[in-house]
Amino acid sequence: MFLFLIFIINILLLTSSSSDLRPGFYSNTCPNAEIIVRDVMKRALIREPRSVASIMRFQFHDCFVNGCDASMLLDDTPSMLGEKLALSNINSLRSFEVIDEVKEALEKACPGVVSCADIIIMASRDAVALTGGPNWEVRLGRLDSLTASQDNSSNIMPSPRSNATTLINLFQKYNLSVKDLVALSGSHSIGKGRCFSIMFRLYNQSGSGKPDPAIDPGFRNELNKLCPLDVDQNVTGNLDSTPVIFDNQYFKDLVAGRGFLNSDQTLFTFPQTREFVSFYSRDQTEFFKAFVEGMLKMGDLQSDRPGEVRRNCRVVNPRPAHFLSEHKMQNNDKSM
Ligand code: HEM
Ligand SMILES: *[C@@H]1O[C@H](CO)[C@@H](O)[C@H](O)[C@H]1NC(C)=O
Ligand SMILES: *[C@@H]1O[C@H](CO)[C@@H](O)[C@H](O)[C@H]1NC(C)=O
Ligand SMILES: *[C@@H]1O[C@H](CO)[C@@H](O)[C@H](O)[C@H]1NC(C)=O
Ligand SMILES: *[C@@H]1O[C@H](CO)[C@@H](O)[C@H](O)[C@H]1NC(C)=O
Ligand SMILES: *[C@@H]1O[C@H](CO)[C@@H](O)[C@H](O)[C@H]1NC(C)=O
Repeated sequence: MFLFLIFIINILLLTSSSSDLRPGFYSNTCPNAEIIVRDVMKRALIREPRSVASIMRFQFHDCFVNGCDASMLLDDTPSMLGEKLALSNINSLRSFEVIDEVKEALEKACPGVVSCADIIIMASRDAVALTGGPNWEVRLGRLDSLTASQDNSSNIMPSPRSNATTLINLFQKYNLSVKDLVALSGSHSIGKGRCFSIMFRLYNQSGSGKPDPAIDPGFRNELNKLCPLDVDQNVTGNLDSTPVIFDNQYFKDLVAGRGFLNSDQTLFTFPQTREFVSFYSRDQTEFFKAFVEGMLKMGDLQSDRPGEVRRNCRVVNPRPAHFLSEHKMQNNDKSM
C-alpha cells in the first residue's frame, strides 16, 4: 500500500515535456481560466498601468532559468535561497501581488488545477494584448517547480550592460535566433527601468569615465537630469517614449539613439542586430508577428525536473513527512 502511494505521488509529479503543451489545456478542468486571468490583469492595468509590464517581464525571468516552471515566484525559505534576490531581480522584479490575485481567483473557481507557470504565460500574453499589442493563443499544461536557486538566476540573466554579441550568444543557448532576440527586446516597449541600470552608461561606459557615445545628446541631457550622479538609484525612467502602449516606438527610439538601456541601444549599434531594429521601426505588423513567435518559443522552454500544481505560487505544496524521506526512492522510480 505504501509503495502504491509512492507510485501515485510519482505519477502526480511527472514532468511534462513541451509536446504536452497545447492550447485549451484547461478547457475541461477550468473552462474559464483564461477569462479569469484576463479580468485580473485588466483590473491591475487600471490600478497601475506599469504593473502589467512588470508581469510580462516574469516570462523572461522564469523561462530562462530551468524552463517555464514558476521557479522565480518561490519565496526564500530557511533552506532555500530562491530567485527573487538574484542579481537581475533584487529591487527590480515587482507586482508579484498581481499573480497572487490571479491565483486566488483561479483557486476559487478550480482548486488545484491551473499551474503558476501557466499563469505567467497567460498573464504575459494579456499584458501585451491589453496595452495595444498583438493577442495570441498560448500553449498550456506546464507544472510548477519544487525548488528554485538564486545562483541559477544570477548566473543566467543578462546585465543591462550587455552588448548585442553577448545577448545573441545567450539567446542562442535557448535556440532563440537573432531575430527572436531583437523582437523579444521589443517587450521594452512597455515599462520602466531604474537609474541604477544606466548610471554606468551615463557616466563611465566600459570604465572610460565617459558616457556611452551611442546616446543621442538631447536624450543624454534628459537622462542626466533624471539620474544625476547623487540620485536615489531606485528612481525610474521610461524604457521607451510610449511606456504604457505596446507598439514599435521602442525601435524608433533606438534608431534615434534614444534607447534607455545599454542592452537596448546596442541592438542598433551592432551590425548583427541593426537591420532587424530598422525593419521593426518601420513595420509594426512584422514586429508583432516576430514578437508572438518569440514569446511562443520562449514559453516552450521546459524544465526537466519534477513538478506540481502549486496551491500558492510563493510556496511549494506541503508534503507528508514520509514523502520527503522517500524522495530518493521517488527519483529511482522514475525509470519505471
Ligand atoms: C535581451 C535581454 C534583456 C535585458 C538585458 C533586459 C534587461 C532589463 C532591465 C535592466 C530592465 C530594468 C530593470 C530595472 O532597472 O529595475 C528591464 C525591464 C523590463 N524588461 Fe527586460 N531585458 C531583456 C529582455 C527582456 C525580455 C525578453 C522581456 C520579455 C519578453 C523583457 C521584459 C521587460 C519589461 C516588460 C521590463 C519593464 C518592467 C517594469 O516596468 O517593471 N525584457 N529589462
Ligand atoms: C542550479 O542550481 C543547482 C542547485 O543549486 C545547481 O546544482 C546547478 O549547478 C545550478 N546550475 C546553474 C546553471 O547555475
Ligand atoms: C561584448 O561584451 C563582451 C563581454 O563583456 C566583451 O568580451 C566583448 O568584447 C564585447 N564586444 C564588443 C564588440 O564590444
Ligand atoms: C536546441 O535545439 C537542439 C537541437 O534541436 C536541442 O538538442 C536542444 O535541446 C535545444 N535546446 C533547448 C534549450 O531547447
Ligand atoms: C570608471 O570605471 C573604472 C573601471 O571600472 C574605474 O576604475 C573608475 O574609477 C571609474 N570612474 C569613475 C569616475 O567612477
Ligand atoms: C532601493 O530600494 C531598496 C528598498 O526598497 C533598498 O534596499 C535599496 O538599497 C535601494 N537601492 C538603491 C540603489 O538605492
